[in-house]
Amino acid sequence: MTLSSLARVVPVPAAFAFAFTLFTAADSAPLIAAEPGQEAAAEAPENPIEATRESVRAGLRVYGRFCRSCHGIQADGQGMTAPPGSRPANLIDDEWTHGDRDGDIYLVIRNGVPPNYDMDAWEGRITDEEIWHVVNFLRNLAERLAR
Ligand code: HEC
Repeated sequence: MTLSSLARVVPVPAAFAFAFTLFTAADSAPLIAAEPGQEAAAEAPENPIEATRESVRAGLRVYGRFCRSCHGIQADGQGMTAPPGSRPANLIDDEWTHGDRDGDIYLVIRNGVPPNYDMDAWEGRITDEEIWHVVNFLRNLAERLAR
């Protein structure tokens, strides 16, 4: 299995961590390398914001303003005004193309999805805190819909 085929079947950050391990293992010189644990943490940060009612509400406001047009009122990917040809993701199912941890979802929202960025990078347009609120909102919504 090549590394690129691996990248398709495992979440990207895991593939990164794997490549990182390969790279450092192949390098016999005692380089100053980040602890593997630190590297993983940098890839997918821990959610620093508790999913309180206030956080979920703040996330709902951000979602309604910036995300609903593409991802839909129910966050099921059926937004009415998504760019032609784009396929906004369902954000309330168990399928996460870009990783299913809070930190993975945070990174997708912050950095967007290359190469064409139909899913835009929101860094600088909404705050980091707001991104975490949206993550909390989406988790909460999925939980409520699953009941
Ligand atoms: C212009 C349309 C558009 C807007 C606006 C938009 N998205 Fe997306 N989003 C997409 C598309 C298209 C994808 C699928 C990208 C891909 O994987 O190729 C996507 C993917 C995602 C994913 C990855 C899902 C997965 O399965 O891993 C998340 C999370 C996400 N969007 C959250 C948001 C949030 C939160 C907002 C608002 C801040 C937002 N999006 C705004 C179009 C949009």
